Amino acid sequence: MSKDSLKNSTRGKKKISPSKNLTLKSMTTDQFSEEKLKSLLKTEQLGKKICFFPSLESTNLFAKQLAEKGEPHGTLVIAETQTKGQGRLGRSWHSPKGGLWFSLILRPSFRPFLPQHLTFTAGLAAAQTCSRIIPNVSLRWPNDIYVESKKIGGILTEGRTKGNDFEYCIIGIGLNVNLTESEFPSILKSEASSLLILKKEKVEIPLFLANLLLLWENILKIYSQKGFAPVLNSWKKYAHFLGTFVKVDTPTKTIEGEAIDVTLSGSLKVQDLDGMIHEISSGDVRRLTSN
Ligand code: BTN
Repeated sequence: MSKDSLKNSTRGKKKISPSKNLTLKSMTTDQFSEEKLKSLLKTEQLGKKICFFPSLESTNLFAKQLAEKGEPHGTLVIAETQTKGQGRLGRSWHSPKGGLWFSLILRPSFRPFLPQHLTFTAGLAAAQTCSRIIPNVSLRWPNDIYVESKKIGGILTEGRTKGNDFEYCIIGIGLNVNLTESEFPSILKSEASSLLILKKEKVEIPLFLANLLLLWENILKIYSQKGFAPVLNSWKKYAHFLGTFVKVDTPTKTIEGEAIDVTLSGSLKVQDLDGMIHEISSGDVRRLTSN
């Protein structure tokens, strides 16, 4: 994950009243059933508390407000649509009905941990879950989920610091699950896709999410017990962009070269045509070659 997405954006924002909504009864819509999710969930912590809404501005925003009120580790906020879905680097995230838009509050009890590592755990879980449905799933640094040249999902991590430590992290995952071609605006059509388009079959969202959360919880366990190296090694198996030529837009400059590695701190290493190696902690990667 890049440091750019680690913003502490709860300050100065109008607060809604999540505690009232937390008492809502279980909800079912044509895409999602909270009861179904509960019956399928085999996790110990992730998703033990579920806040589902037919519509929210942004699940990340709502999860942050819940976290500020002390909601526990593993609380899941999920919305059928988002009216102000947030992407990385201040971009907006198109979130119509049919997608999987959710955020988790993470308050890891183990130390030390890095928020960018948590993003990698989420990316790996998402890639593993998608791979059970379609082939050729890949991860592009920092944590975009692709199938060949089309993006099918992304991750937005935000956190609140307390001194040198993190009080909580919000990890928001957006996955184009059951979106049809016509649901993408023309500007996204050439670069985005969905599981439905690729598999030509509707995916059952509660089952998909239950699988993802279980895989994620197991990856978090590995991270807490063995550190980031084994997580990164598994992540790299999906990192098909490594070894290819890329163009990286960083906040200060654009770098072109071969993507040679991702480091244990989560930075991307790019070797330019002069042989110079750049270690990049924040930016956007575009592939210049297919391999
Ligand atoms: C990206 O720019 O690739 C990251 C996109 C993250 C989108 C998800 S959808 C659920 C959660 N809520 C948000 O507002 N954003 C994240």
